[in-house]
Amino acid sequence: MQDIREQLLTDLAAADTAQAVEEVRIKYLGRKGLITTLAKTTDFSKLGPEEKRNFGRQLNELKQLATERIAAAAAAARSGQAVHKGPALDLTLPGSEHSLGSLHPITLVQMELEDIFQGMGFMVLSGPDVETEYYNFDSLNMPGDHPARDMQDTFWLNSGMLLKTHTSANQVRTLEKYGAPVRAIFPGRCFRYEAMDPSHETTFYQCEGLLVDRNISVANLIAVMKALLGEIFHRDVAVRLRPGYFPFVEPGFELDLQCLLCGGKKCPTCGDGWLELIPCGLVHPRVLEAGGVDTSTCSGFAFGLGLTRLAMMKYGIQDIRRFNSGDIRFCQQFPAAV
Ligand code: PHE
Repeated sequence: MQDIREQLLTDLAAADTAQAVEEVRIKYLGRKGLITTLAKTTDFSKLGPEEKRNFGRQLNELKQLATERIAAAAAAARSGQAVHKGPALDLTLPGSEHSLGSLHPITLVQMELEDIFQGMGFMVLSGPDVETEYYNFDSLNMPGDHPARDMQDTFWLNSGMLLKTHTSANQVRTLEKYGAPVRAIFPGRCFRYEAMDPSHETTFYQCEGLLVDRNISVANLIAVMKALLGEIFHRDVAVRLRPGYFPFVEPGFELDLQCLLCGGKKCPTCGDGWLELIPCGLVHPRVLEAGGVDTSTCSGFAFGLGLTRLAMMKYGIQDIRRFNSGDIRFCQQFPAAV
């Protein structure tokens, strides 16, 4: 066996084409190969139990070694590399280039938002994508028969859990965990049962914000929103609030941004000088109560920023389906880091 082993290694070192490696394989492992024959012709009945065991083990090891080395030599020969000859490493060859990749536009916008909010003392949290009906709906003042649920049809699991339809699902979880005062944002993935078109996707991203403390009013909400938008768009922006209905805020608003292209003078992009941007409002007392917050001393505001929508505005992306398309040419247009 020792002889066969040495001979095999010598033969392999000399075999530098796929054909030559194949010949080595036949010589050792073929039907009439040296190793095969050795196994076949050994009369095991003549060996004692100890010998039998040793011989069997060594034979297996030899077979395994031959199989591995031959496979490696064959692979190397196929890819045109020299087989076990000369120095294995040529330090003068140019290295292979590794692409750094680039960050997804959602990631870029999310990182920017996290930065801005952390600067204002907000925590960055996240919640589960597979959520209970309670946190996604009931705890947000949307019981089973509430018509507002129709707007947020989603994917239900057999277990009764669902894929969260909005980042608001994390509001009561956050209040339960941290109590008041609290300020946090929770960027995350949301899912809805949508017919897909350039502005609708079944999977999209939002960034929720929640602030609960003593004496929080709409004035605080507006101040934080203005600070946020000023940072994002790098200029002083004008905003307005219109009434908007969401069962988990009272009063509820749609916050509009004065069009940055025409400055509110009306243009084809905005129509009437304003862009609907952030649904928001003061947290409904029932939501605070569900989170165990004392509503006689505390109040708060919440907003649900459309992260995907913001990325579309910021980078001029016209079709929402690009985001999850997996098309590498899409991502490659964005920087590797901010
Ligand atoms: N969760 C709401 C939605 O997805 C948006 C929202 C968040 C509204 C927070 C008010 C306050 O439609």
